[in-house]
Amino acid sequence: MSFFYLLAFWLASLSLVSAQTWTDCNPLKEDCPNDPALGSEHLWTFNETMNGKLWNTTNGEINWTEDGAEFTIEKKLESPTLQSTFYIFFGVVETHLKMAKGNGIVSSVVLQSDDLDEIDWEWIGSNNTEVQSNYFGKGDDSTFDRGGYHYVPNADTEFHNYTTYWDQDKLEWWVDDELVRTLKYSEAKDGSRYPQTPSNIRFGIWPAGDGDNDEGVIAWAGGEVDYDAGPYTMVIESVRVQDFHSGKEYEYKDNSGSWESINVIKYVICHMAPPA
Ligand SMILES: *[C@@H]1O[C@H](CO)[C@@H](O)[C@H](O)[C@H]1NC(C)=O
Ligand SMILES: *[C@@H]1O[C@H](CO)[C@@H](O)[C@H](O)[C@H]1NC(C)=O
Ligand SMILES: *[C@@H]1O[C@H](CO)[C@@H](O)[C@H](O)[C@H]1NC(C)=O
Ligand SMILES: *[C@@H]1O[C@H](CO)[C@@H](O)[C@H](O)[C@H]1NC(C)=O
Ligand SMILES: *[C@@H]1O[C@H](CO)[C@@H](O)[C@H](O)[C@H]1NC(C)=O
Repeated sequence: MSFFYLLAFWLASLSLVSAQTWTDCNPLKEDCPNDPALGSEHLWTFNETMNGKLWNTTNGEINWTEDGAEFTIEKKLESPTLQSTFYIFFGVVETHLKMAKGNGIVSSVVLQSDDLDEIDWEWIGSNNTEVQSNYFGKGDDSTFDRGGYHYVPNADTEFHNYTTYWDQDKLEWWVDDELVRTLKYSEAKDGSRYPQTPSNIRFGIWPAGDGDNDEGVIAWAGGEVDYDAGPYTMVIESVRVQDFHSGKEYEYKDNSGSWESINVIKYVICHMAPPA
C-alpha cells in the first residue's frame, strides 16, 4: 500500500476529515482537469509561512520558524501535511530535512501523480540512521521489491539533502552528494510501472504506529507510538524544485498513463495580427 493510501484510509477511518483524497480524479478512469505546472525552477526557504498559492497545508498545522517548517505530532490524531498546488513533469526535488525520531512515527517526502504514480522518501522514527526509498507506478503495490534502505548519519539531529532526480529514463535518489539508488525505466515492469506522469509534492508526518492501527503497519513503523514521550517533529529547512518542462498545464491526452500521452500546454503569447 502506498503511503498516502494508508494515510488517507487512516484519516477516513477515524472520520478525521470527510475526504482527505489522495487523488480527486484518476485520469486512467475518467477525463480530469489539467494539472497546473510549475514550469520553472525555484528554491523555497521554509523560514516563514509558505501556506499560500503554491503550497497548501492540507491537514493539521505547521509551525513556520526561522529554522524551518516544523511538522509536529503532539497528540493522537495529529498528522500535519503540506502539498504543492503545482505539478512537475520530470524534474528535481531537493529537500533539506530532519526526520522525526520516535517509534511508530513516519516522516515523508512524496511525489504523487493523479493516476497514483509515486516516488517516496520515508523515515521510520525508530531508526535515525536510515532513509527508505520507494516508488509505485499507477498505484500498483503487487510487488515487494520496490523499497530501498539507505544509511544516513544522525538523520534526526542534522539536516541532510535528500534529492530526487527524475526523468523519462531513470529515477535517482541522492543523500547529500551520494547517489544511493537508481531505478531505470525498464526495471519497473518494462516501464509500465515506472512513475512517469505529472506529480505534486507532499510533505508529512504520520503516527503510523498508532495503537489503533493494523499490527502490520505498527511493525513496519517501528513499534507503537508513545504519545507521552513526544512531541515528535520533522523539520524542513528548504526545498528546491525544478520542473523539466516549461509550460502552464499538463493534460492527459488519453487513459494510458504513459509519459508520451502527456500534453504540455504552453503559455499563449499574443501576437498582433499580420498586416492583411
Ligand atoms: C528566510 O531566508 C531567506 C534566505 O536565506 C532570507 O532572505 C530571508 O530574509 C529569511 N526570512 C526570515 C523571515 O528570516
Ligand atoms: C488546500 O487544502 C484544503 C484541505 O485539504 C482544501 O480544502 C483546499 O481546497 C486546498 N486549497 C487549494 C488551493 O488547493
Ligand atoms: C513554534 O516554534 C517556535 C520557535 O521555535 C516555538 O517557540 C513554539 O513553541 C512553536 N510552537 C508550537 C505550537 O510548536
Ligand atoms: C538502521 O538502519 C541502518 C541503515 O539501513 C541499519 O544498518 C541498522 O541496522 C538499522 N538499525 C536498526 C536498529 O534497525
Ligand atoms: C543537494 O544534493 C544534490 C545531489 O547531490 C546536489 O545536486 C545539490 O547541489 C545539493 N544541494 C546543496 C545545497 O548542496
